[in-house]
Amino acid sequence: MIRKATVRDIPEIKIIIDYYARQEMMLQRSLSELYEFTRSFYVCEIEDEIVGCCALQVSWEDMAEIMSFAVKQKHREQGIGTELVRSCINEAKELDINKVFTLTYAVPFFEKQGFDKIDKQQLPHKIWSGCIKCPKFPNCDEVAMLKNI
Ligand SMILES: CC(C)(COP(=O)(O)OP(=O)(O)OC[C@H]1O[C@@H](n2cnc3c(N)ncnc32)[C@H](O)[C@@H]1OP(=O)(O)O)[C@@H](O)C(=O)NCCC(=O)NCCS
Repeated sequence: MIRKATVRDIPEIKIIIDYYARQEMMLQRSLSELYEFTRSFYVCEIEDEIVGCCALQVSWEDMAEIMSFAVKQKHREQGIGTELVRSCINEAKELDINKVFTLTYAVPFFEKQGFDKIDKQQLPHKIWSGCIKCPKFPNCDEVAMLKNI
């Protein structure tokens, strides 16, 4: 059910992300960006339908980011998000990365996965380059959360 993405999944991933981006719950991504991130994505597939996605992007020597994480509305609360995050964390371990972070509004969800709130200033400066594309920039109200693994 959970597997690495292929380029064929990207249009469906975009539809899921766009749905929540329209509600300002996550950052919109262009098709071009998503194709570049193909190797970072895990997807959840049920009966030939992509119902969830999550990407792990290495951002620094000891750090990776969980991003573009969403599960289709009708499939939420069934443990799919937990499994997607678990896959990303397992991959981070394989890559010898010991800190995984995210910028999110889903604070209670990430607390359940063992993430703690941190000051955004603790994150590497390079991650802010993506923020310029955010409609909320510079008034970011996402919460930075980190898990030591
Ligand atoms: C966040 C999200 C991906 C979680 O996916 P999910 O498949 O519903 O998560 P799970 O079913 O694995 O939930 C695990 C637990 O977290 C809880 N949970 C899930 N989403 C939550 C939320 N937004 N707020 C509070 N608790 C949440 C669930 O109730 C569940 O609790 P339980 O273990 O006590 O039953 C999904 O809610 C979503 O797509 N949200 C909209 C987009 C978004 O906010 N993405 C995150 C951007 S980083």
